Amino acid sequence: MIDFFEFQLRPRVQFKVGLVDEMAPEIARLESTRAIIVADDGVVKTGMLDRVHAGLAGGIEIVGDFCDIPANSSVESVERGAAFAKEINADVIVAVGGGSPIDTAKCMRILMSEGGKLHDYEGYNLLDKPLVPMIAIPTTAGTGSEVTPFAVIRDEAAEVKLTFASPFLAPELAILDPTMTQTLPARLTAATGMDALTHAIESFVSTEANPISDSLGLQAIDLISNNLRAATHTGNDMEARGQMLVAACIAGMAFSSGFLGIVHAMAHAIGGSYPVHHGTANSILLPHAMRFNSEIAPNRFARIARSMGVNAGGRAEEYVIEDGIAAVTALANDCNMPMRLRDVAVPKEALPALAEVALTDGTIFTNPRTATVEEIVQLLEEAW
Ligand SMILES: [Fe+2]
Repeated sequence: MIDFFEFQLRPRVQFKVGLVDEMAPEIARLESTRAIIVADDGVVKTGMLDRVHAGLAGGIEIVGDFCDIPANSSVESVERGAAFAKEINADVIVAVGGGSPIDTAKCMRILMSEGGKLHDYEGYNLLDKPLVPMIAIPTTAGTGSEVTPFAVIRDEAAEVKLTFASPFLAPELAILDPTMTQTLPARLTAATGMDALTHAIESFVSTEANPISDSLGLQAIDLISNNLRAATHTGNDMEARGQMLVAACIAGMAFSSGFLGIVHAMAHAIGGSYPVHHGTANSILLPHAMRFNSEIAPNRFARIARSMGVNAGGRAEEYVIEDGIAAVTALANDCNMPMRLRDVAVPKEALPALAEVALTDGTIFTNPRTATVEEIVQLLEEAW
């Protein structure tokens, strides 16, 4: 049995098809009166912003929309968003979108409540009291950011991704409404779903894995392996969309206490320098890292294989593990994901420098197998 673990439940989670249309009574329960909506471009273009406005009507006054958010949330947009929120005296944030607007909103809360420069709060547990309240409405089934205590923000000048971690960053309420993911294009449905799968798998084998994160991680793997194909290829399959939204949320809960590993370390390094979608980078790297890590934790990888639907059938563990890795590759392939780093324009000569950056990424410290820079270069080359 594990010596010590900590698991904290913070956000309330509500799930219902069409829940966004009936949020007013829920937000009226908060002590806030002036809401700012933080959303990305896709939310505006698909008419979901109007839907959120209508869903909140009668529950709270909406004093502004902040929708100028890049695909990868940036320090600059966090600072601009927080300045705008202060100017209009907002006292609650409703974040709508994928990981970028939700992470932007989380960090806007820091500047709205604490002031100062965002860089001052980079790192772990640097906040000591609750922030401006926040509601998160995900429109992707991927990051799990609606429940995690983390935010990842790109520092454009330094070309690195900054990680912020504190229980006070987790939103107060997560609204899971599968209709909000219905118009997500197949390519992004697949990429964000593979991000969620990576969260579930990495947290399950991490050095911080614990009995609670384990149960969440395995359930997420099972749900994703059974629903990502349908959600990708039949966008209006509400059953698959709903199962994926729940899977991404519980994978988010799993890695909130189980943490991540070398796949995210490499993906963060790649995303800091190249315009590769985070989920796509994870998807390409995941099978290679699974094989690398499986030498240290074979029993765990055999359990992952079974959750991916592999029938162990009394076979030796090594074959079951290899079938589990093949199942992950097949899932990515069936969802038309790019399979190699060369397919997403990462130059081969950049791999050694990316390995150096990955080696310093916070997520690598909970990877089950310690990796040298040479081993990371080798993994990147295998994925190239
Ligand atoms: Fe991720």
